[in-house]
Amino acid sequence: MRERISESGVIEDRELAEYYSLMAKKYMRIPCQRVLSRIKAKGIQQGNCLDVGTGPGIFPIFLSKAFPEIRFRAIDLSSVMIDIAWKNAIEAGLADQIEFQVGSAYSLPCDDQSLDLLLCTNTLHHLDRPVDFFNEVARTLKAGGSFVIVDFHRDASFVWVGLFDLFWRFFFGKHPKARKGFMESVNSSYTLEECRAFLNQSKLTNWKLYTRTIEMWIESIPGNG
Ligand SMILES: C[S@@+](CC[C@H](N)C(=O)[O-])C[C@H]1O[C@@H](n2cnc3c(N)ncnc32)[C@H](O)[C@@H]1O
Repeated sequence: MRERISESGVIEDRELAEYYSLMAKKYMRIPCQRVLSRIKAKGIQQGNCLDVGTGPGIFPIFLSKAFPEIRFRAIDLSSVMIDIAWKNAIEAGLADQIEFQVGSAYSLPCDDQSLDLLLCTNTLHHLDRPVDFFNEVARTLKAGGSFVIVDFHRDASFVWVGLFDLFWRFFFGKHPKARKGFMESVNSSYTLEECRAFLNQSKLTNWKLYTRTIEMWIESIPGNG
C-alpha cells in the first residue's frame, strides 16, 4: 500500500473556499441524505449536535431543515470557511438555528458528555492526529451518544478511485486549484487497518467501521448510541 501523503489541513484560500461552497451546494444533496438516513436509523430527533470540519456548512444546513429539534453547532479551523458557512445559513434562513465557530477537531469547544450526536464528513484525512480527535469524540459525547464519521480510505479499489476521480474532474475540476483535489484527499486518507488501529488506541469504544465504495464510515453501534 502506498504511503499516506498528508494534505494541508485548513482551507483558508477564499477563492477556493467559495468554489468549494458553490460546488457543495450544487452536488452534496445525496451525501447529505445518506447522513440523514443514518441519523434517522439511530432514532435521533432532538438534542445537541456538533459537526466537525464543517467547511461551508452544507451538512448542518441540510440536516437542520430535517431535524428542527436538534440544536446544531459546527466548527472549522478555517475562519474563511466559517464566514462562508454563516452566509450560507443566512441564505437558507437558518442563521438562528445553527451556530458556526472557528474551532479545532483536537480541542472541541464542548463540555464533557454534552453531545447527543457528533458528525464529521470528509475531514478525517486532514487530521494527522486522529487518535486525539477520537479521544475528543469520546470525551464530549453523552453516555449512549451517537456519532457518524465519513471519509475516504486510501485502500479503496483503484477502479472506484479512478471512476470517482473522473466524476470529480468533470463536476469540480473546472477550477485549476480544485482539479487534483479528489486524489489529494484520497492520498491523505487512512487505510481501514490504520483507522481501526487508531480507534483501538483511542478512548472511543462503541464503534463499527464499514465501507461503501471509496468511503469509510465509522459509527456508534446501534443500541449503544
Ligand atoms: C473537505 S472539507 C469538508 C467540509 C464538509 N464537512 C463537507 O463534507 O462538505 C474539510 C474541512 O476540514 C477543515 N479542517 C481541517 N483540519 C481541521 C481541524 N484540525 N479542525 C477542524 N477543521 C479542520 C478544513 O478547513 C475544511 O473546511
